[in-house]
Amino acid sequence: MGLSMTINGDHLTSTADPVTPLVDVLREDFHLTGAKPVCREGFCGACMVLIDGNPTPSCLIPAALAQGCDIRTVEGLAANGRLNPIQAALEACDAVQCGMCFPGMVVSLTHLLTTRPEATRDDIRAALTGNICRCTGYERIIEAALLALATP
Ligand code: FES
Ligand code: FES
Repeated sequence: MGLSMTINGDHLTSTADPVTPLVDVLREDFHLTGAKPVCREGFCGACMVLIDGNPTPSCLIPAALAQGCDIRTVEGLAANGRLNPIQAALEACDAVQCGMCFPGMVVSLTHLLTTRPEATRDDIRAALTGNICRCTGYERIIEAALLALATP
């Protein structure tokens, strides 16, 4: 019997060992490679996904614990082929450098924009404490988040 999960609205089954980190199941079984295993210690945020709506490092979650949860990866955040507001703002602000951190940044900022539409610059900074950008591109990322918040 496999592990059943709901990922980006699809009901999927994996035969992975139940203790396999969710990030590896996403990437290897379902070819959802947006979440990236970088530190594997819950520190960098490159593997961030939404689990039941909450940003969660998928490197720390055994796949078995993700069963029955609503999992959303960066691949599932653009509805009907249109970028969501934070994706569009990051593009408009030319905020991407190497891009390694970006799937996690998009997940965390999508959560912020949907739950805190009144968020301030400090709120944005706080929301990104779990996301490390090795290119240190934080200012443009924060400017993009402010743009997305200000865009009706
Ligand atoms: S790889 Fe999961 S937090 Fe860094
Ligand atoms: S853009 Fe390179 S790690 Fe953030």
